[in-house]
Amino acid sequence: MRVSYVLPLLSLFLSQTTAAALGSSPHKLSTLRQCQTTGKNCPEGTIIVSQTNTTTSKKQIYKTIQSAINTLPNNTHPATILIKAGTYNEQLNITRAGPITFIGETTNPKDATANQVRITWSAANKDSTGQSVDNVYSSVLVVAPTLESSLTGSGTTGYAVPDDTPFGNVDFRVYNVDFVNEWSDYSDGPAHALSLSRANGGFYYCGFFSYQDTVYIGKLGNAYFYKSIIAGQTDFLYGFGTAWIQSSKIQLRGCGGGITAWKGTNTTFTNKYGVYIVDSDVRAANTSIAPDIIGECALGRPWNSQHRSIFARCTEDGSITASGYIDWVVSGVARFQEGVTLMAEYAVSGAGFNRTGRIEGGVTTLLDRKAWKGYSEPERVFQEPTGEFGNVGWIDWGVIGEK
Ligand SMILES: *[C@@H]1O[C@H](CO)[C@@H](O)[C@H](O)[C@H]1NC(C)=O
Ligand SMILES: *[C@@H]1O[C@H](CO)[C@@H](O)[C@H](O)[C@H]1NC(C)=O
Ligand SMILES: *[C@@H]1O[C@H](CO)[C@@H](O)[C@H](O)[C@H]1NC(C)=O
Ligand SMILES: *[C@@H]1O[C@H](CO)[C@@H](O)[C@H](O)[C@H]1NC(C)=O
Ligand SMILES: *[C@@H]1O[C@H](CO)[C@@H](O)[C@H](O)[C@H]1NC(C)=O
Ligand SMILES: *[C@@H]1O[C@H](CO)[C@@H](O)[C@H](O)[C@H]1NC(C)=O
Repeated sequence: MRVSYVLPLLSLFLSQTTAAALGSSPHKLSTLRQCQTTGKNCPEGTIIVSQTNTTTSKKQIYKTIQSAINTLPNNTHPATILIKAGTYNEQLNITRAGPITFIGETTNPKDATANQVRITWSAANKDSTGQSVDNVYSSVLVVAPTLESSLTGSGTTGYAVPDDTPFGNVDFRVYNVDFVNEWSDYSDGPAHALSLSRANGGFYYCGFFSYQDTVYIGKLGNAYFYKSIIAGQTDFLYGFGTAWIQSSKIQLRGCGGGITAWKGTNTTFTNKYGVYIVDSDVRAANTSIAPDIIGECALGRPWNSQHRSIFARCTEDGSITASGYIDWVVSGVARFQEGVTLMAEYAVSGAGFNRTGRIEGGVTTLLDRKAWKGYSEPERVFQEPTGEFGNVGWIDWGVIGEK
């Protein structure tokens, strides 16, 4: 009796605090742009990280980003961190539930190629003795409430995250920051730039650079990318959660596996966990690599049979293989399952789109307008952990609409 009385109250409290945190954007767009270009008029309480300016007249300035993160109380108050131009060689780990915004200093906020803040780390999924470790340990940035919730694990369902794990960050935002995993300049095992699980994160004009498994969106992870750059060679968009990549650049630094490798999950409710790449440009990273990969790169492959990914209204250059997606056969067992696996395209164009090749290949679904409709807006795919659709209050619509 007592338990059933307390639980609804607790969940009411939690949904109210979440709503309060999400209801108001942590900053105005004009404030954000001024803060990152001039360092002035930053949101109240902005914490500054700088490698060069250690003036401690009034305000403490942190030298590393993680030392600034570590000062944040574990509560629901929004926090803003201004990161001054520079290259920061550190791994970041965000467990807190309260909103956090990273503002990267830049003179050109509407161009990710001009970013002046780089966060670098060099690691793959191996320890110093060469023994394999979980992919999470390689990541430049981890956003997840606990270590267990961030583990990739193995098998069709991945690491079994305990059910009582809390949700992590409800509203994490990053503007104009590059995350670079410098482990190698070819695929040499999973080497994350980003790992985000049980959290909501928006990335605007950001860069994610690695070769293998660059971006991992884990269980109950929701990630939105806008006008960003995601570079890799093998399975470089992978995970269990939901990712929406809008008006961005997918850069092929070679071919291997596929661009996307998703694992679906069985839930008691309908889920649309998957990766949606929309109005984006998919092409060779540069003109020297382009001739070497013509017709060689796959759009994706099924990490398990319930893989879901859609390239919608994208431009694809000639690097893309004729069949579009490919199957993944492990020990003679093909993972592609008709009617279960969704590896799709909608209204794509460019030299990489070969209709005959797609049909002959037999694994790529060409969606018509009606079939695309069910996925056509972030509202239709981002879900609350309990399954309700429309979990988009953490997306910065102001930046998206910016002139
Ligand atoms: C260092 O940072 C402080 C606080 O933001 C600022 O007032 C000062 O002008 C900065 N100095 C330089 C040399 O950038
Ligand atoms: C932070 O607070 C949440 C919610 O109260 C709690 O579940 C979590 O264990 C706390 N984390 C730490 C590191 O104290
Ligand atoms: C992130 O920080 C949490 C809390 O300190 C810790 O338990 C976890 O192991 C860290 N994650 C990684 C990948 O190091
Ligand atoms: C082109 O991209 C490849 C793959 O990332 C890289 O190895 C090479 O250095 C790049 N070349 C130039 C000229 O940037
Ligand atoms: C989901 O359920 C189906 C039907 O029971 C099963 O074949 C499949 O292996 C399950 N997939 C996962 C990822 O658990
Ligand atoms: C398109 O795919 C078909 C079937 O694989 C192939 O025969 C044809 O050469 C491809 N066309 C181009 C332009 O690559």
